[in-house]
Amino acid sequence: MSESKRPYIILSAAMTIDGKIASKSGDSELSDEEDWQEVHKLRTKVDAILVGKNTINENPKLHIKYYTHEGYYRIVLDSNLTIPISSNVITYLPHLYPTIICTTENVSRERMKKYLEKKVTIIRAGKGARVDLFKLMAKLYERGIKSILLEGGGTVNWSFVKHGLIDEIRLTIAPWIVGGKEAINLVDGEGFAYMKDSLQFKLVSVKHRDNYVTLKYKR
Ligand SMILES: NC(=O)c1ccc[n+]([C@@H]2O[C@H](COP(=O)([O-])OP(=O)(O)OC[C@H]3O[C@@H](n4cnc5c(N)ncnc54)[C@H](OP(=O)(O)O)[C@@H]3O)[C@@H](O)[C@H]2O)c1
Repeated sequence: MSESKRPYIILSAAMTIDGKIASKSGDSELSDEEDWQEVHKLRTKVDAILVGKNTINENPKLHIKYYTHEGYYRIVLDSNLTIPISSNVITYLPHLYPTIICTTENVSRERMKKYLEKKVTIIRAGKGARVDLFKLMAKLYERGIKSILLEGGGTVNWSFVKHGLIDEIRLTIAPWIVGGKEAINLVDGEGFAYMKDSLQFKLVSVKHRDNYVTLKYKR
């Protein structure tokens, strides 16, 4: 796939000093008010926000609270179409934030019915166990989605890293250490075996206020 035929992808996350984006219980309350304002500002500038289905467990609205704006797509990767139909990403302001759920071709039309009735768009990408990201990115681009804010979690972040699908990173470091092998890392998955295979970025800016640091990187 040609690089220009996919959306520009910005990974955005808040993590602890020890690189966790959620504790072992799934608590991800790391951002303070000011950080949320910055994240929401970034949301006003993209065509879509993308998350994995486990990030829906906390029932986020994936909306913008602090600014006037024209909305964007909320995209959820959910290979087997399992997220609750009552999720905020489906029911909260769907006209402003239309929702796209991405699955595989293995999902039946029958299963899709109740989501389609809620005006959710379903994109089927690939026949594997999980959503095929290259196929998905091409389909999203065709729909006019030229920029995506990737808001995790760790499993989905790894898939984007593995496929080299990250152009920019905005990372806030919160001043805590939470530890735990079961806690969610910024990037989980199997990881690369060698540094030479890893994705490398250029540090573009460092901002700090109080005890928070925000880093911006580009490919
Ligand atoms: N601090 C922060 O900034 C921040 C941001 C976001 C999330 N979080 C936290 O992160 C946690 C969730 O992270 P998580 O790693 O458990 O899950 P996740 O990345 O949110 O979702 C992973 C799931 O997405 C589905 N998926 C579909 N296609 C995929 C693909 N191509 N690659 C990877 N996944 C695909 C898979 O389920 P299927 O196989 O069933 O499709 C997979 O298990 C939550 O606790 C959330 O609060 C924190």
